[in-house]
Amino acid sequence: MAAAEAGVTALLVEGLGKRYGATVALEDVSFSVEPGEFVALLGPSGAGKSTLFRCVTRLAKPDAGRVLVLGRDIAALRGAPLRESRRDVGLIFQQFNLIGRVSAIDNALAGRMGHAPTWRVALRRFAAADRQLALAALDRVGLLEKAYQRADSLSGGQQQRVAIARVLAQRARLVLADEPVASLDPQSAENVLGTLRTIAREEGIAVLCALHQVDLARRFADRVVALRGGRRLMEASAAAFDESAFRALYGVADRLETTS
Ligand SMILES: Nc1ncnc2c1ncn2[C@@H]1O[C@H](COP(=O)(O)OP(=O)(O)O)[C@@H](O)[C@H]1O
Ligand SMILES: [Mg+2]
Repeated sequence: MAAAEAGVTALLVEGLGKRYGATVALEDVSFSVEPGEFVALLGPSGAGKSTLFRCVTRLAKPDAGRVLVLGRDIAALRGAPLRESRRDVGLIFQQFNLIGRVSAIDNALAGRMGHAPTWRVALRRFAAADRQLALAALDRVGLLEKAYQRADSLSGGQQQRVAIARVLAQRARLVLADEPVASLDPQSAENVLGTLRTIAREEGIAVLCALHQVDLARRFADRVVALRGGRRLMEASAAAFDESAFRALYGVADRLETTS
């Protein structure tokens, strides 16, 4: 299959549904993320954010709907096209998920694994070009001078920026970040979200970032998709996500009209 075309929607979620027994984790959720866009997936605990990510990465199989990554229906992919599609998607987690005892650059190089031949990965013999890419990625997130420091000696915010360098080295075109700042102090959280916004704008990467803090979503995201009880409550520009939307999401009202 040919590589996905430039300009195609990075992520299209259509009518997505997922149940766990009697629990409705997602119901009829639709939205899209375009290249260069930072979309916040906002919602309280249990809203279905992680389930949505699991459906997009094929860790969970949806009961209804479909997911297109760069125009390709991921449920239909097998073999080489599936591996190719996996390379397009970078993942960032709440707990950083770095290899603690190795350096920042080796962690960034892990982003090249989907590209390098298996023997190189096994022997940790990455090509000079891969090392250059990893260093450039660390430079991009402001951590060039920490390249040879062990990951577990870095602060939480720095570790999360190494995780961003890893997806840059991977040359991911869609980045899924599941509560990437939930373990960070406010200053580090702003730094990490600012870095994600920068890579979206300047590299044209599509970023979908689960958050539960409305103020951070409003300040850093271009658009907000709000989930509650597995349903999409609203989709709005970050600026339109106001006080009444906040109340609808976190309590009081049960329903809210879509404002855009
Ligand atoms: N593996 C699972 N088995 C059973 N229920 C699950 C499982 N994963 C998630 N759920 C349920 O699905 C709902 C959505 O959970 P989740 O996607 O983790 O929400 P969030 O990430 O927004 O906190 C919750 O009610 C949760 O208990
Ligand atoms: Mg979650």
